[in-house]
Amino acid sequence: MADIYRQNGITAPQADKRVLITTFGCQMNEYDSSRMAGLLATLGYAATGEAEQADLILLNTCSVREHAAHKVYSYMGALKPLKERRPSLIIGVGGCLAQQEGQRLLDSIPHLDLVFGTDAIEKLPDLIEEALKGKRRSLTPRPQKAEIPALRPYSTPGLKAMVTVMQGCDNFCSYCVVPFVRGRERSRPACEVLEEVAALTEAGMREVTLLGQNVNSYKDPAGGLDFPGLLAKVASAPDLWRVRFTTSHPKDLSPRLVEVMASEEKVMEQLHLPVQSGSDRVLKAMRRGYSRAQYVAKVADIRSRIPGIALGTDIIVGFPGESDDDFAASLSLLDEVGYDFLFSFKYSDRPHTKALKLGGKLADDVKAARLEALQSRQRDLSLASHQKMAGQTVEVLVEGPAKKGQGQLTGRCRSGQAVNFAGPLRLRGSLVQVLVSEGLVHSLKGRLIQLEEGAIT
Ligand code: SAH
Ligand code: SF4
Ligand code: F3S
Repeated sequence: MADIYRQNGITAPQADKRVLITTFGCQMNEYDSSRMAGLLATLGYAATGEAEQADLILLNTCSVREHAAHKVYSYMGALKPLKERRPSLIIGVGGCLAQQEGQRLLDSIPHLDLVFGTDAIEKLPDLIEEALKGKRRSLTPRPQKAEIPALRPYSTPGLKAMVTVMQGCDNFCSYCVVPFVRGRERSRPACEVLEEVAALTEAGMREVTLLGQNVNSYKDPAGGLDFPGLLAKVASAPDLWRVRFTTSHPKDLSPRLVEVMASEEKVMEQLHLPVQSGSDRVLKAMRRGYSRAQYVAKVADIRSRIPGIALGTDIIVGFPGESDDDFAASLSLLDEVGYDFLFSFKYSDRPHTKALKLGGKLADDVKAARLEALQSRQRDLSLASHQKMAGQTVEVLVEGPAKKGQGQLTGRCRSGQAVNFAGPLRLRGSLVQVLVSEGLVHSLKGRLIQLEEGAIT
């Protein structure tokens, strides 16, 4: 807690109230939740994990798929008895669903006190004050041209942190609500990003993930830095060991970015490159701006420059009009690229999008069967790829005890896989070398072979 006060140059008030923040959605929302926590700490709110203890409950919501939105409504339903028992409890909804629904949320959920959009986080103190006086308000300014307010995130102690470098999206893929709820692309000044990274490393963080809906479109508003330039600058931060970033749009992934990834030791060999479909017909209808052949050629180039890189992707099944052949093309792309990580989703209609109005919507059972086929193929491929890693030595940043297994430690290797191995807890926070003994679908098992210089303190 002290850090956030020091970072903001203020005197810490007594934490006499408690806030529970529940986050749905992507890493961008997780980052925003930490900004909310930072702001609320300055108002005397300490974090709690218990709804029963909270004076304030905030939901940071997602709207990217119907399912994500449903989860918010059912969570809100579960809070109703609590609010009835304790009317002084303030409940607020922020994030992407809040941006999309605004006042409608207040109208349909009587026990909700306040709604704040994706660009209204810094207005939370006013909204809470009004709610305490019994005034219910929704504040969802359009995130069109606004700058990203420089709120420092609240950093919980740990090794890994996220830093949002740009927000919003100008791509308008035909299925996607993100440009409507996050607004147009805008980047944070590079100096602000670098300051934040410096504050994080000072607080003991060793790995950062740079975040943006489309990080390749980053452009320093104060100068000439593009994303490869920013990445190289971040990588040169002293005391920072590892940098990752997400998400890269395939059409904007430049040779210079590949160059920086290949040459900067601190940039990890991992890339999330969402393809969405393996069929050119569907890619066109999705308005993705590349063909399968162009995507595959980029992947081949990346693999030749960065051997051992782990690739991840997102795939949507059951886009309107997706035929059996189109789906077969997505399946065959898995084989052709050989991904290590796959996030796959059933298409769902979203408000404002072009795809909402398309014909050829598919039944849920067809989408469910395709999703299962895709995931099962990927399980086989992940297993085969991880089994191939057996016998290799990998560098692991030790995060702490593994969830399962006595005396087992866990951490991630450079290419992002979880690695579990036996070792003493004092290795937490250090880089170690592990010999991979077995590859599983979602993780690797290994044996500690050598401690890096200075790892034992
Ligand atoms: N900016 C990122 C993705 C953000 S949304 C990118 O372009 O890669 C995360 C993922 O949700 C998308 O990659 C897509 O696979 C999925 N998604 C988005 N809209 C969807 C919809 N309407 N139905 C199903 N999945 C969707
Ligand atoms: Fe959505 Fe496409 Fe933008 Fe990604 S690039 S956030 S999928 S519109
Ligand atoms: Fe969801 Fe908003 Fe992220 S819609 S995926 S939380 S940008």
